[in-house]
Amino acid sequence: MKIEAIHAEAYRGGKGDTCLVTPFFEGDDPAGLRAGKAAAAALCALSARGVFTGKTGQCQCLPTPRDRTQAVLAVGVGSRAKLSAEGARRAAGTAAGPLSRHRVRHVFLDVTRMPDRFAEAFVEGLVLAQYRFEVYRKGDPEGGAAVEAVTLIVPDGVNPDRAARDTHRAALIAMGVNGARQLADTASNDLTPSALAEFARGVARESGMSCTVLGPREMAELGMNALLGVAKGAAEEPRLVVMEYRHARAKKTILLAGKGVCFDAGGISIKPAQGMHEMKYDMCGAAAVLCAMMTLAHLGPRVNLVAVVPAVENKTGARAQTPGDIVRAYNGKTIEVRNTDAEGRLILADALAYAVEKHAPDVVVDLATLTGACVVALGHYAAGVLGNDDGLVASLVGAGEETGDRLWPLPLWDEYCDLIKGDHADLCNISPGRDAGTITGAAFIKEFVGGTPWAHIDIAGVAYGVKHIPHLNPKHATGFGVRLLTRWVMDQAKAAK
Ligand code: BES
Ligand code: ZN
Ligand code: MN
Repeated sequence: MKIEAIHAEAYRGGKGDTCLVTPFFEGDDPAGLRAGKAAAAALCALSARGVFTGKTGQCQCLPTPRDRTQAVLAVGVGSRAKLSAEGARRAAGTAAGPLSRHRVRHVFLDVTRMPDRFAEAFVEGLVLAQYRFEVYRKGDPEGGAAVEAVTLIVPDGVNPDRAARDTHRAALIAMGVNGARQLADTASNDLTPSALAEFARGVARESGMSCTVLGPREMAELGMNALLGVAKGAAEEPRLVVMEYRHARAKKTILLAGKGVCFDAGGISIKPAQGMHEMKYDMCGAAAVLCAMMTLAHLGPRVNLVAVVPAVENKTGARAQTPGDIVRAYNGKTIEVRNTDAEGRLILADALAYAVEKHAPDVVVDLATLTGACVVALGHYAAGVLGNDDGLVASLVGAGEETGDRLWPLPLWDEYCDLIKGDHADLCNISPGRDAGTITGAAFIKEFVGGTPWAHIDIAGVAYGVKHIPHLNPKHATGFGVRLLTRWVMDQAKAAK
């Protein structure tokens, strides 16, 4: 997306497929509209009748054929006191529909009366709302068009270059989110573990990062039997992706891990048919981590980053891992696999133990569509977060609030951790009952990070199919985690200076 910024006196508008987008607070005077007299009069009339009052969710398009733009779009942003970044994103999501239907390609966004950072959040919301999944079908079935350029009209005291730069960065991050959504929406017959690894290689090549990919023989030599056990039932070979971003003056190394189950049929402990197709999304943790790395490589934080992504399919068959099987993980711990559908923790176990030993990170964060229990507990509007370091968890919750990738903490007390101790091996991959499934999942992963500060984010409820958020399409992946990780890493890099 092309972004520039000007002051109001330089605003000349543009003909053709342009639109002036004006955010309105509830109670704003519509006569103050920057558009021509006709549009202002039309908006005044609508406001007098209570049709357009500036409430959140309202959006009014006013055609202005003889004015400086083809149309004016007044977007309600609610009360000035309550407006948040998320409110700006949602307003953009609401505006995206009419902009697409009117085939607007160039938006003039009037932020002269808006608070700092409104433009960033609005453009982020717009880029997210414009996501289309067109891998298997070309063109918008409704014949809409995408906005390709935004000209910000900024207040007099604001430096236009700086506003344009900051907003461009927000658009870049949103494009990273859309990259993760596209990867996740891709069907599992195309996005196999090796295809996921190739994607990672491509990202690394284009962004100047290094990337190593291990195959099954290398993993066997290293003793990654928990990961290999999951892959046994699949014809597609597993991969372990390790991507590295380095900064010459880094004071800290951060390890990011993402669950990359390209399809989760459950294995011998097979899932019911209803909704099973959604398990192509079981690699959303991997997608978020890889696309956050891509985005961060462009932002250049002063920190070292390692991303580790175990990529497998969890399927059934004559060779599939069987309930009761016992495997020895990379760190030597033995695991009884009582339920082959609790596979995410098994692949993360080896991936984390290996990366923690090899890269000695200062801090570890993993993202995984780990448990249905997390969907039961939190639904679709917050991911669960757990860890062995309260300060780390708090910093992630903070980044989540700022970015809209919201997190809610769950406890990880010793009593829970005892529930995954094994009868026949060191550990069991499930707890005896169905209670606290998200917590016992995290308790299992904890066994594989040693004493390193670590947080686990369960994104099962937020990774796809989220309804009622205007800038996210309920039929598609959300890219949850890209904005969160990007912001959190940038904050960590700043704090470590
Ligand atoms: N990938 C699933 C979790 C999941 C469920 C993600 C729904 C998204 C939506 C995971 O591998 C799984 O099957 N977990 C089991 C764990 C159980 C066997 C302890 C579950 O949640 O039922
Ligand atoms: Zn799974
Ligand atoms: Mn599973």
